[in-house]
Amino acid sequence: MGNVAPRNADYKRGGESESKSMEVNGKIVVITGGGRGIGRAMAERFGRDGAQVALLDVSAADLEATRASLEAAGVTARSYEVNVANEEQVIATMDRIISDLGRLDVMINNAGILRDALLVKAKDGAIVSKMSLAQWQAVIDVNLTGVFLCGREAAERMIRLGNGGVIINISSVSRHGNAGQSNYSAAKAAVAALTVVWAKELARYGIRTGTISPGGTRTDILATMRPDMLAKLLRGETICNYPARLRCKAPSPPGPWCSPPDAGSCSSSPTISSRLPLLSRRSPTW
Ligand SMILES: NC(=O)c1ccc[n+]([C@@H]2O[C@H](COP(=O)([O-])OP(=O)(O)OC[C@H]3O[C@@H](n4cnc5c(N)ncnc54)[C@H](O)[C@@H]3O)[C@@H](O)[C@H]2O)c1
Repeated sequence: MGNVAPRNADYKRGGESESKSMEVNGKIVVITGGGRGIGRAMAERFGRDGAQVALLDVSAADLEATRASLEAAGVTARSYEVNVANEEQVIATMDRIISDLGRLDVMINNAGILRDALLVKAKDGAIVSKMSLAQWQAVIDVNLTGVFLCGREAAERMIRLGNGGVIINISSVSRHGNAGQSNYSAAKAAVAALTVVWAKELARYGIRTGTISPGGTRTDILATMRPDMLAKLLRGETICNYPARLRCKAPSPPGPWCSPPDAGSCSSSPTISSRLPLLSRRSPTW
């Protein structure tokens, strides 16, 4: 795997170094799915704070529009057309970034897609649909394998360069389990777990790793949701609307429904708790 630069003394554990502050001026920030939505918004913010931005996306048109808009605002931005789920393309792109920009300080694994469907849907006793393997695989490929590949290749280059770095993985509040999103919830939960693994494995090289789990955010990704589900989401209602008989009887939760942190408090009522939704009106499902 080639030479590995010695550990950088500036990146000691436990907050001992000033160099671990949030100073991004002059840093190279790579953002997958940077062509639009949350990725584009992050690129604009990092750019405003003085970072140079590398945008990665499958959409050449979105890449070009975002790059041009950043450049017009005085931000140094490069764009790279790449499918994050394709190993060869990811490796080649990371090599180009290092060759173009000289280093890699922050890797944000943000590219994501939805292919929602119920696991199995029945009506009047007949099965009417199932989540297809293609729907499952597409989301796992982009939202999980893409994070793995880009995170791995970024970490390798950060270690070689010896300057440490930061890897941020974009998960979702759906990681707790959201009806209609077997594929998406599984991928986003795995991304949160990956982040913990990487934090343990990469800290020794001065690479910090974190997860952000956004809630509902108006972007194009929502266009693939069922309109009635989307309307509920945007009204701030849970899209997991369980009947009253499943209400939590435990006194401690603050609302009528159990949310993930409260679920344990229902253990005094196991029959009910085993059927309780893991979502609450207070924690919208995205
Ligand atoms: N919008 C929300 O409400 C919300 C909530 C929680 C989490 N998220 C997560 O935030 C991230 C960004 O979502 P968004 O809302 O900005 O969506 P978006 O659809 O607006 O943007 C996603 C971007 O990823 C790109 N992309 C898709 N597949 C790709 C691939 N194979 N390779 C490279 N790029 C690819 C798209 O072209 C697009 O530019 C996603 O991981 C999403 O799961 C979004």
